[in-house]
Amino acid sequence: MTWNLEGKVAIVTGCASGIGLTTTRLYLEAGARVFGIDISPFPEPSPFSKAHSHHFYFHRADLTTPGACEKSVNQCLSKTGKKIDILANVAGIMDSFEAVHKTKDTTWDRVISVNTTVPMKLMRAVLNDGGMLEQKSGQIINVASKAGISGAAAGFAYTASKHALIGMTKQAAWRYHHDGIRVNAVCPGGVATNIKSSIKSENLDQESLDILKPFHDLNHTPDGGQTISPEDIANAILFLSVDASRNVSGIIVPVDNAWSAV
Ligand SMILES: NC(=O)c1ccc[n+]([C@@H]2O[C@H](COP(=O)([O-])OP(=O)(O)OC[C@H]3O[C@@H](n4cnc5c(N)ncnc54)[C@H](O)[C@@H]3O)[C@@H](O)[C@H]2O)c1
Repeated sequence: MTWNLEGKVAIVTGCASGIGLTTTRLYLEAGARVFGIDISPFPEPSPFSKAHSHHFYFHRADLTTPGACEKSVNQCLSKTGKKIDILANVAGIMDSFEAVHKTKDTTWDRVISVNTTVPMKLMRAVLNDGGMLEQKSGQIINVASKAGISGAAAGFAYTASKHALIGMTKQAAWRYHHDGIRVNAVCPGGVATNIKSSIKSENLDQESLDILKPFHDLNHTPDGGQTISPEDIANAILFLSVDASRNVSGIIVPVDNAWSAV
């Protein structure tokens, strides 16, 4: 079984930073062409080699705007001239650890929109126009979170958004398992990326953070530091994208150094 993605076309959301950027690099190194989407600009200079840059198409978009997901999939089709083989839903934002009684409509709407509705719309688009159902093959990898399997990791909105993403992963895996389409989720523990910049400090719920602290403290890695890197997460995403995992579908893979085993 191969870890090669030669000839494959992949869409990666959140490709300009952190886990999405590293996933894009690993996909390119495995031979895929990657259509990366992000609301933020792509880093300059590009961290990719010249050869890999030829196989990378960057599309800047806020995926929550109406029609953006469908338009992105169509742009990927016209740029690459090929149906889509892989969708990695990586883009995500945090809430500000608010409990439900402190959750503003604006926080709820934005977090659910980015973390849950965008992945749904992209899944629907790659299955339909993207060609996965027609070609009877495809891999979808959703990046959820430790907060998708536990109530003691984040605020109310983020926790809800990632639990929903896990339900979506399982339902779609089961629904399409006869269609050659695999759907899996990866649940990172704490990884040092730019994700904290999405926390709105004016909404920070310090009381909830204090309550969560003992549970966050369980996230200590053996050396006491944050040894989970974006590459650790991207490696799991890569495994779920290649033929080596061809019978793996509907699973939820924590990459959190046993945090979710507590
Ligand atoms: N870093 C962690 O500790 C951690 C833990 C658990 C889960 N996760 C999940 O991992 C995923 C990747 O996060 P990361 O840690 O690499 O964070 P990051 O902030 O470094 O990267 C997220 C990317 O998503 C992009 N993005 C946000 N909103 C967007 C939108 N509306 N349209 C298009 N792009 C948008 C951002 O611009 C950013 O480049 C997220 O889904 C996050 O919830 C991260």
